[in-house]
Amino acid sequence: MKQSEFKKRRKQLMQRVGKGNIALIGSASVHTRNRDVDYPFRQDSDFYYLTGFNEPDALAVFIPGREQGEYILFCREFDEKKALWEGAHAGLEGATKHFSADDSFPIDDVDEILSGMLENKTKVFYPMGRDSDLDLSLQEWIRHIRSQSRSGVVAPAELASIEPILHEMRLFKSAAELELMRHAASVSAEAHVKAMQFCRAGRFEYQIEADIVHHFMQAGLRAVAYPSIVAGGKNACTLHYTDNKDKLKKGDLLLVDAGAECDHYAADITRTFPVSGKFSEEQALLYQLVLDAQLAAIEQIKPNIPWNAAHDASVEIMTKGLVKLGLLTGSVKKLIKDEKYKQFYMHRIGHWLGMDVHDVGDYKINQAWRKLQAGMVLTIEPGLYISENCKTVDKKWRGIGIRIEDDVLVTKDGHEILTAGVPKTIAEIEMLMAVTYEL
Ligand code: GLY
Ligand code: MN
Ligand code: MN
Repeated sequence: MKQSEFKKRRKQLMQRVGKGNIALIGSASVHTRNRDVDYPFRQDSDFYYLTGFNEPDALAVFIPGREQGEYILFCREFDEKKALWEGAHAGLEGATKHFSADDSFPIDDVDEILSGMLENKTKVFYPMGRDSDLDLSLQEWIRHIRSQSRSGVVAPAELASIEPILHEMRLFKSAAELELMRHAASVSAEAHVKAMQFCRAGRFEYQIEADIVHHFMQAGLRAVAYPSIVAGGKNACTLHYTDNKDKLKKGDLLLVDAGAECDHYAADITRTFPVSGKFSEEQALLYQLVLDAQLAAIEQIKPNIPWNAAHDASVEIMTKGLVKLGLLTGSVKKLIKDEKYKQFYMHRIGHWLGMDVHDVGDYKINQAWRKLQAGMVLTIEPGLYISENCKTVDKKWRGIGIRIEDDVLVTKDGHEILTAGVPKTIAEIEMLMAVTYEL
């Protein structure tokens, strides 16, 4: 991502924050995994969106109209020893030179410097309640300014969440963002094709996970957007199954929900396919139902259609289909009204997608579902999960879990499926899997 893109975002943010006010946003922190070992660092999406700065221990400050510079970055000072042990970091000079900050200061001096910057500002925008350290520090800084009031300085009187401004910006993807999302989507689609090719009975779920991550990394994408779900047979009925530890069995389906991250932008794909390459009769009937629901939901995606239209379309198809197959009985209208489908289809149709897999942005405005607009990206992922213990349905359906998930961009006159590179019809999947690939 070019620096000019981050600059454009900062300008937009500052216009919305307004002169006389100030905005703060902190970086993510490093978290300990176990003694002397840290989790891989992942920058806070809001912070990265505005700065492109990929280090912990940093705080970005935006002061619209400040003469000495509007964008101030507090970060770690350059330390040769740290560079030797832990690798490159920008330091104060790098912050201005490579990340276009107007000013940079050591993060260790933030308490002394920032309270001065807060003086005489009306409103402070910040990610309220997200980082308790920042919440506390802000109270301290404001208390400090108040204690100086006899010298004529005024402390900010209003604290506001920066999220509504920032998240509305993030909801609409620019051309540069879409380029990264398309790349994450196509690499992830290729990885799902590999998973189908390399799947066979006797391999373990984690080995399929390894095939997927191997492909991501070989393609140059180091990080997953979220822990991969590789769930054989009944494991697919556990929505957030990430143990990925069981052996794949002939006759079972395999549900794979996996996506790569490309420069902080996520892909999110699910495919469900037979371990041995051929759907059984029951599996095919349920699979086709989920696919029909997914296609009908995707069909809804265009500007000016409310967010829930796709969900409602999927619920109608699912309920009708479940009645036809005998998994539900009664009038379709009443079953929908009573939400009876929820015992098998218990989640919603999808979510916004972007820097976070469950991306930011409001789904409702003034309590009404918002209308889709060009530039939004969302997932469409209906599923059916018939628990092993579901006594109300015939045994033959039990233990089957199916989800089909694609990433969809709302365009000016309709939509574009970013993840179309991985097959999803029964015929296409069976054809792909009919060929035996060398492991
Ligand atoms: N992979 C998370 C989700 O599908 O929502
Ligand atoms: Mn999803
Ligand atoms: Mn998913």
